[in-house]
Amino acid sequence: MAKELFSEAKLGGLTLQNHVVMAPMTRNRATTDHDVTPIMTTYYAQRATAGLIITEGIAPSPNGNGYARVPGLYTPSQVTGWKAVTDAVHRQGGHIFAQLMHSGRIGHPVNMHEGGEVIAPSAVAAAGQIYTDTEGMLDHPTPRALTTEEVKATIQEFVTAAKNAINAGFDGVELHGANGYLIEQFISPDVNKRTDEYGGSVENRSRFLLETAAAVGEAIGLDQVGVRLSPYGAFNDITAFDGVDETYQYIAEQLNEIGVVYVHLVDHQSMGAPAVPGKITKSIRKAFTGSLILSGGYDADRAESDLESDKGDLIAFGRPFIANPDLVKRLRTGAELNQPDYDTFYTPGEKGYTDYPVLETEKV
Ligand SMILES: Cc1cc2nc3c(=O)[nH]c(=O)nc-3n(C[C@H](O)[C@H](O)[C@H](O)COP(=O)(O)O)c2cc1C
Repeated sequence: MAKELFSEAKLGGLTLQNHVVMAPMTRNRATTDHDVTPIMTTYYAQRATAGLIITEGIAPSPNGNGYARVPGLYTPSQVTGWKAVTDAVHRQGGHIFAQLMHSGRIGHPVNMHEGGEVIAPSAVAAAGQIYTDTEGMLDHPTPRALTTEEVKATIQEFVTAAKNAINAGFDGVELHGANGYLIEQFISPDVNKRTDEYGGSVENRSRFLLETAAAVGEAIGLDQVGVRLSPYGAFNDITAFDGVDETYQYIAEQLNEIGVVYVHLVDHQSMGAPAVPGKITKSIRKAFTGSLILSGGYDADRAESDLESDKGDLIAFGRPFIANPDLVKRLRTGAELNQPDYDTFYTPGEKGYTDYPVLETEKV
């Protein structure tokens, strides 16, 4: 079998070192003011042998920054901080997209910059609680429903953040349309109860994502815009809804029409979520002719086999990249993998972040 996983790959105008993508992973190592820290530069530089790094979720605006110590892309100092990260990755021949994650109703004012507000398509609170550094676990607050004008202004926040990403040296942005954050809050009829053009029908619930993708594409170039989706996902109090197949079929067709560079599918079966039916993945593959990134529970064999059978074009690895900065080398050589320490996924500092061992002694 040809080892496609480790050969060069095309993504729009980019030539990637290989077909291995580092999946976006929130690690909460920014400052409490949501600025990039030097250890974040070290962390991404250590993993620059991936064909493409997709960063952790980055907030496009203060309203979108509902978690503790999650970075943003809306202040000059955040742009400067990210510039150090992208320079370090590029110096090693890597490529890096910024994942723009607006948390919407999954946030707490205690975690937010002054002026930030928990907003959503509708005033429907998520079940469950959210972690805060100062007050521990707190109930998700009831979000304020955006007015139609504010929905349009929020799309512009994504545009501004995308321009900031390009100024910070990113090769592109990924719109986080998955895992129960703002974009998926619009898509799900269980959360979106709006009666304007952003709620109700499939077309209306998809409008926020599609207008954002088109506007961001116009601002920075469609070759630099990808979209992450999680049909049948079960996270942050969103689950599969009536008409889910029809909705994602429409979204895939429209994203194809708009011409974004990739769609990135989440499959969290390996994390306990229900299986994503093969038929939806296949229908998205058929409707969307750009690059398809697959993710969730991959090892080298399954990655090779899915590339070989043309199920997708690139394969993203999440947790294995946390524990193995030199994951590409380990996959290629069949070396043993370090196991991730779940206790330090979201804690501040270097422990469990930049201190995983590499095969050889040289360090970034
Ligand atoms: C610590 C951690 C943080 C994550 N944060 C994000 C995130 O910010 N954005 C996102 O789209 N997915 C996020 N994910 C999901 C991963 O991108 C990926 O889909 C998931 O880990 C499954 O892939 P794996 O089995 O290779 O780990 C996160 C996963 C983990 C383990």
